[in-house]
Amino acid sequence: MMSSSSSILLCLVFSLFLSISPSTARTPGKPSRPQALVLAVTKDPSTSQYLTTIRQRTPLRPVKLTVDVGGKALWVACDRSEYISSTYKPALCGSPQCRLAKSKSCDDCWDGPRPGCNNETCSNVVYNTVEKSGQIGEVATDVLALQSTDGSNPGRLVRVPNFLFSCGSLFLGEKLANGAKGIAGFGRTETSLPSLLSRALGVRKKFAICLSSSVGVAFLGDGPYVLLPSVTVSDRLIYTPLLTNPVSTVRPIIEKFPDYTWPSMEYFIGVESIKVNTKTVPVSQALLKFNAKGNGGTKISTVEPYTVLHTSIYNAITKAFVKAISKVPRVNPVPPFGTCYKASSLGSTRLGPGVPAIELVLQNNVTWMIFGANSMVYLNNSEVACLAFVDGGKKPRTSIVLGGHQLQDNLVEFDVEGSRLGFSSTLLGRQTTCGNFNFTTKV
Ligand SMILES: *[C@@H]1O[C@H](CO)[C@@H](O)[C@H](O)[C@H]1NC(C)=O
Ligand SMILES: *[C@@H]1O[C@H](CO)[C@@H](O)[C@H](O)[C@H]1NC(C)=O
Ligand SMILES: *[C@@H]1O[C@H](CO)[C@@H](O)[C@H](O)[C@H]1NC(C)=O
Ligand SMILES: *[C@@H]1O[C@H](CO)[C@@H](O)[C@H](O)[C@H]1NC(C)=O
Repeated sequence: MMSSSSSILLCLVFSLFLSISPSTARTPGKPSRPQALVLAVTKDPSTSQYLTTIRQRTPLRPVKLTVDVGGKALWVACDRSEYISSTYKPALCGSPQCRLAKSKSCDDCWDGPRPGCNNETCSNVVYNTVEKSGQIGEVATDVLALQSTDGSNPGRLVRVPNFLFSCGSLFLGEKLANGAKGIAGFGRTETSLPSLLSRALGVRKKFAICLSSSVGVAFLGDGPYVLLPSVTVSDRLIYTPLLTNPVSTVRPIIEKFPDYTWPSMEYFIGVESIKVNTKTVPVSQALLKFNAKGNGGTKISTVEPYTVLHTSIYNAITKAFVKAISKVPRVNPVPPFGTCYKASSLGSTRLGPGVPAIELVLQNNVTWMIFGANSMVYLNNSEVACLAFVDGGKKPRTSIVLGGHQLQDNLVEFDVEGSRLGFSSTLLGRQTTCGNFNFTTKV
C-alpha cells in the first residue's frame, strides 16, 4: 500500500506534468483556441452584394453566401440536389437547438426524409433581407469550418461540429447574387455567426468588416486586424456606442413566429448631427432618434448598396453639397442618384473625387468623415460622378441606413460584448485599403 506522503508527491508530479503538457505536447485534434477567424468578402459587381464563402457539411464543401451584418442567422439552401452531407442533423422538437433558435414549432414533412424535410423537427423564419421576403425552414446543425487568423494572415482551418443554421429554399434566393446559396447573418441574436462562434470556440463576441469594391475581409473575434503593408488598423479605431432599437425591424412579420416581438437584430448608432463642408445642415432631431414604434435612427447595412436617407435628410445634405460646389456644372442625374457632375470637373484626390466632406457627428462626440471615395460613385464609364446617396422617401422605417458604398475601405468593428462600434475612417488616408488583407495562409 502506498503511503499518504508518496501519493501526495505522485499527485504533485502528476499535476506538474499536466500543467506543462498542454504547451509542450499538444493533443492532436484538440488544438488551442483561435483568437479570431477570417473570411474573404467579395463584392458582386452586378448586384453590389457582399459575398463570403464558408465551408460546411461532410465532406466539406464551399458555400457562397450573401453577408448581412444585421441578419438573424445562417441559412443555406437545402433543396434536394443542393444539400448532401453525412453529418446533417435536423433539430428535433424540444431539443436544445430548438431552444437556442427560440423555436417552439414542431413540424412534419411529407417529402422526405432529407435535409430540410424531416418529421418532428422545429423550424423558424428564414429571412431574405435582399428581397425582403421570408420563408419557414427546418432548424438543423452540421459541420462548419472557417480559417483562424492571427490578424495578419489566415491560419489553420477550425471546425465546429454542430453549427446551428436553418434550411431555406433557393426559390427564395432569386435576388441573391449568382452562385449565392443563402445568407450569413451577423446580427444581434443568439443564432448569428458571431454569437455561435463565440459560444463554440470561446472567441470574443465581436466582429469587424472591411468592405472593398473587390476582395475585402471580415474578422470574427479579437484583433489585431492588420492590412498590408503592416498597417494595424485596430490600433486607431474611433468608438461610438452601439444602440439597441427596442422595436423589431424584421420583415416580413410572420404571426406564428415571435421574432417580430424581439428588439431589432440590426446594429444602430447615434447620429447627432450632420455637416457638409464643415457646416451643420438642418436635420430634424426627432428623425435621428427611435420613436415608440422603433422608427427613426441610424443603422448599418451591408444589404443596401448605397446609404438610404429620409427625404428631408437627403434634401438637406444634397442642398448643402450642391451649394458648396455651385461652380461645378451639374449633368443629368443617373437614377437612383439625383446629383451628378462631370467626373473630370471634380478633380481627384487621394481620398477620391475632390468634393466637400460630409460628416456624421456621432454619440461620444466623434465624427465619421465621408470623403469623395465614399460619397461619390462613378457611372457611365467613369465620365459621371454622382452623390452616392438614395432618397428613401418620407416614411422610411429607419432614417439613415448606412450602406455598402459608404462602408468601403473603412474597417468597422461591431463589439457586441463591449456594446460599441469602432471605425477606422477611410483607410485611403493611411495608405491601405480593405482589399489589402494578405490571404496567403500561414499555419
Ligand atoms: C412523417 O411521418 C409520416 C407518418 O406520420 C410519414 O408518412 C412520412 O413519410 C414521414 N416523413 C418523413 C420525412 O419521415
Ligand atoms: C449615362 O448613360 C445613360 C445610359 O447609357 C444615358 O442615358 C445618360 O444620358 C448618361 N448620362 C450622362 C450624364 O452622361
Ligand atoms: C466635440 O468635438 C469638437 C472637435 O473635436 C469640439 O470642438 C467640441 O467642443 C466638442 N463638443 C463637445 C460637446 O464636447
Ligand atoms: C503574405 O504573407 C506571406 C505568409 O506570411 C508572406 O510570405 C508574404 O510575403 C506576404 N505578402 C506580402 C506582400 O507581404
